[in-house]
Amino acid sequence: MRWTILLLLLPLSLSAVAGNRALVKYRQHVMEASHDHMKAIGSLVLDGVPLRGQLPGHIHAIETFAKELPALFPRGSEGGDAERMIWWRWPDFKARAHKTAQAAAALDTAAVAGDEGRMHKAYYALLDSCKSCHHDYRQEP
Ligand code: HEC
Repeated sequence: MRWTILLLLLPLSLSAVAGNRALVKYRQHVMEASHDHMKAIGSLVLDGVPLRGQLPGHIHAIETFAKELPALFPRGSEGGDAERMIWWRWPDFKARAHKTAQAAAALDTAAVAGDEGRMHKAYYALLDSCKSCHHDYRQEP
């Protein structure tokens, strides 16, 4: 009897593991996409690519990414390079994501004002906000 129950539960837990793996892969894709947006912003802001009209789209993508970021780490989605500490220090983790969203908003404000000096500073502050979360919550790949 006990074995029957175990055998019935096995496919369920296997599909949970597969689902988790897909979720981890998904959040890594989203992180990679935001990395590409950062590189594109770098081309526009630091390297002078003359397509400034593209800038708001990239910045807003990062802002949305940062606001949605905690949702990429539901309880039980341990895996990938995510440190387990994320779920022990959840309020701090969420605060880090919020900081990235705020840094993206600051870059947006600087871009709207057309202030080059402030844009450079805001870009590096945004990059630092990514790095500081990685430093504490992402395992060294
Ligand atoms: C609140 C924390 C946090 C913030 C903020 C954050 N990240 Fe991440 N990032 C992580 C964690 C945790 C992982 C590891 C996820 C995993 O492997 O499951 C990760 C992974 C990545 C990866 C590797 C993905 C892969 O293919 O393995 C890239 C690239 C990345 N982040 C880029 C960024 C960029 C760019 C920003 C800022 C715009 C950013 N991240 C902001 C926590 C954060």
